Amino acid sequence: MENPFNYSNVVTGSSFCNRKKEQADLLEFIKASQNVLLYSHRRTGKSSLIKQIFLNIKQQAPEIGTLYVDLYGTTSEKEFITRVFRQLNALESNTDKLLNLLKNSIDKLSFQLSIDPASNSPTITPTFKATEESLILKNLMALLEKLSKKRKIVIVFDEFQEVVKYTNADSFEKLLRSYIQQHSNICYIFSGSQQHLLTAMFLSQNRAFYQQAASYPLKLIETKHYIPWMKNLFNGGNIAIQKGKLIQIVKHFENHPMYIQLFCFFLWQELKQTSWNDKIISKIEISMIEQKHLEYQTLWDNLSINQKKTLKLVLINDGKNLFAAEALTMVNIKTASIVTRCLKSLSDKEIIVKNGQYVIEDLFLKKWLALNV
Ligand SMILES: Nc1ncnc2c1ncn2[C@@H]1O[C@H](COP(=O)(O)OP(=O)(O)OP(=O)(O)O)[C@@H](O)[C@H]1O
Ligand SMILES: [Mg+2]
Repeated sequence: MENPFNYSNVVTGSSFCNRKKEQADLLEFIKASQNVLLYSHRRTGKSSLIKQIFLNIKQQAPEIGTLYVDLYGTTSEKEFITRVFRQLNALESNTDKLLNLLKNSIDKLSFQLSIDPASNSPTITPTFKATEESLILKNLMALLEKLSKKRKIVIVFDEFQEVVKYTNADSFEKLLRSYIQQHSNICYIFSGSQQHLLTAMFLSQNRAFYQQAASYPLKLIETKHYIPWMKNLFNGGNIAIQKGKLIQIVKHFENHPMYIQLFCFFLWQELKQTSWNDKIISKIEISMIEQKHLEYQTLWDNLSINQKKTLKLVLINDGKNLFAAEALTMVNIKTASIVTRCLKSLSDKEIIVKNGQYVIEDLFLKKWLALNV
């Protein structure tokens, strides 16, 4: 039997653990066309949850249209618009109908049409000048509204925090909001991980998206949900593991879906050859950290000397009392203002997050640092 745990990015189906309540909650929002801000720390499972919900919709409520736009890596309004165009086939997969829709709805648009060989669906890549951007966006949003008159639509903007970094972010946010507000039969899900950017966008009174969406922080998965899921997948391969060991694994990886999924992937491989022993967790963990060695080394090499010292400060003091004189002396930092500055830049890089106290976001990076610096 093939390894049922998943090594790749987004998981659905049997590799997807529980999140029943989250699926039900978000479906309610979708049905009510209530916009949602879905946020969490990195790799908590936002994209997987969305993909799972889209699959459910396809199977159980195909009358709802789904559009998923991944904004990761976009650096301009133009790229934002292009990404939406490229996904339009999710709402209209018939090439002729899609072309007709575009012709009738969008002025001044020249575009390339290609057929995605994997899904056999048409992909639209528009070409337009920066000066035409507003008009194209207006027409594109009108097209979405038109489609939503026929059926309910859910549109996900994943990694929505990218918008904040665009050159004319302020006016783009305002423009986008003005259209979105008019779309009464569309549920927009704004999803992302850089909490400080996203919450500033939706919770600051002076921002365009202020109170435009219901806040939905995505939490880690509870132990009681992991156990039956893990047990079931291991049992499928005739691998029996005691409940106590499964609890130990979940605890060791602090209930974090990504580490648990990955760890179980390797544990499955290991247990196909040998039986459980006391050293198995640390043995697999060390090899997982070793696989990340180059990535972490590059990350470390790219930090300034004060950022390195500050990261050590967080590590050694477990994120607490970072400004105490002895703590600063221990890592040889001269002033507290250096720490303040570096904490900010490390947060911007998403290396640390403030969760009451500062924590190193990637559990494996934390373990790697403890071993290597
Ligand atoms: N419900 C789940 N059950 C099991 N594993 C999960 C679940 N959700 C996420 N994972 C694991 O966590 C990893 C990260 O998930 P995903 O990419 O969906 O998170 P994300 O919050 O969108 O991350 P990012 O912040 O990087 O966009 C997945 O590759 C998968 O291994
Ligand atoms: Mg994601």
